[in-house]
Amino acid sequence: MPKKSSRIIRQSPNTQDDIRRAELDIARRARAAFDALSIEEAQKYLSRLSLQQAQTLRYNWQFNARASQIIPFGPWTYWVVLAGRGFGKTRTGAEAVRYWARHHNNVNIAGPTQGDVRDIMVEGESGILAVCPPNERPRYNSSQAKLIWPNGGKSLLLSAEEPDRFRGKQHEKLWADELASWRNTDAWDQMVLGLRLGHRPQAVVTTTPRPTKLIRSLVENPNAIVTRGTSYDNRANLASAFYDAVVRMYENTRLGRQELNGEILTDNPNALFSPLDIDAGRITHDTFMAKRDSMVKIVVAIDPAASSNENSDETGIVAVATDGNDYYVLEDWSGIYTPRQWAERAIALAEYVGADVIVGEGNNGGEMVEYTLQTVNRDFPVRLVRASRGKAIRAEPASAAYEQHRVHHVGSLPKLEDQMTLWNPSGSDGSPDRLDALVWALTECGLGYFDTTGIIRYTQQLAAESKTPQRSAAENAIEAMRMQANGR
Ligand SMILES: Nc1ncnc2c1ncn2[C@@H]1O[C@H](COP(=O)(O)OP(=O)(O)OP(=O)(O)O)[C@@H](O)[C@H]1O
Ligand SMILES: [Mg+2]
Repeated sequence: MPKKSSRIIRQSPNTQDDIRRAELDIARRARAAFDALSIEEAQKYLSRLSLQQAQTLRYNWQFNARASQIIPFGPWTYWVVLAGRGFGKTRTGAEAVRYWARHHNNVNIAGPTQGDVRDIMVEGESGILAVCPPNERPRYNSSQAKLIWPNGGKSLLLSAEEPDRFRGKQHEKLWADELASWRNTDAWDQMVLGLRLGHRPQAVVTTTPRPTKLIRSLVENPNAIVTRGTSYDNRANLASAFYDAVVRMYENTRLGRQELNGEILTDNPNALFSPLDIDAGRITHDTFMAKRDSMVKIVVAIDPAASSNENSDETGIVAVATDGNDYYVLEDWSGIYTPRQWAERAIALAEYVGADVIVGEGNNGGEMVEYTLQTVNRDFPVRLVRASRGKAIRAEPASAAYEQHRVHHVGSLPKLEDQMTLWNPSGSDGSPDRLDALVWALTECGLGYFDTTGIIRYTQQLAAESKTPQRSAAENAIEAMRMQANGR
């Protein structure tokens, strides 16, 4: 291990900035000179480098980075990098950690799930292990979820799935990747509370944005520096298969403005749901658990995709609970699945949330839905529902309940929320499978138009079962409606 990196180099924040400015100046001038070379000259220059020189150049981030990827100078607290897919967000965060770890003991990192932290932020192609040259590379202790740097500094690896692990943890510097996709926003609140070690505690947040309260408040925070960028900015460094696939999927769509351009889309007048309403109703997992016993019905709804190849639609699988007044959206386990897989996921979710029933859309091959679910679990109650109205009309009561803040998302459900706030009922944005499943689940929990056919059938059934002389079914229906109106 070279001597240079064998201890933490402590400097005051201003000295650190001054030295970095000078280093950056040299690196940027070298880069400008390199960029001015013709291709032949550049090739000739590179071919003359020794192995060590080539290695130095490859790992010199100040030389390789674009200006928008360099840690800003000055006394900011949050550096918020909001950019499209493939911009180089993860690389930017990993390089910031690498630089900070030279000077600080507690540079911690956090991501949406343990898997993301390990596979993307630590071991990924633009993660910490890949961006550090061998003499700077930390040791990865996966069982303790830690990195140990050659100079003795440590980085805790935290995931938003376990907000409890954030409690009491203190940070000098932090890197949070894909914050807009964190399921538990309370994990971020815990993280901010712990950002208090050293002379200048700072966090870099690298994420494709979503119009959530958390992202909007970070952007407006006077102590934040916001950097914006697009997928196109990093085209030169992206594998063409990735670039083509991502651009083809999103270009010229509204979601593309978020996923490629990194825009925060708060204003979609055509969408049925507003991100502000979703945020206003949102509660934490702990708040829901305190109310859990007052739930009167819990439903999992499934909207199966027609086919199951890589490009096919997703199968919507969403769980909702109700206490009779409000609605709680608990989980969204939608994805691209084979029939066997979606049946397993739906049953697993039903067991996980303690659902009373699974509802499935029975319009196209409804029996198949029932049969497939029963191959996984014969005994779970399944109910088929039929769509007699169009998607948009079916979703209207749900849209009104969100406006009244009677629907509460438990934590954040990023992909479902994207579909809710971006899907345009009059456009051609494809099939909103997560949203469909949500609407079915809400409807099964009792949110919907007042449907008299059910009541007429119910009163007919009561009449048939009863031995006393009966009023007509219509009279019974009117009586039932009156009772409902009186709240009985
Ligand atoms: N300035 C740069 N010079 C060279 N390569 C870069 C640069 N910035 C990013 N890259 C490379 O581009 C690729 C994509 O970067 P990265 O994974 O950081 O993007 P991302 O924005 O996090 O993508 P995603 O949206 O998929 O999370 C990686 O191979 C990364 O190392
Ligand atoms: Mg990334």
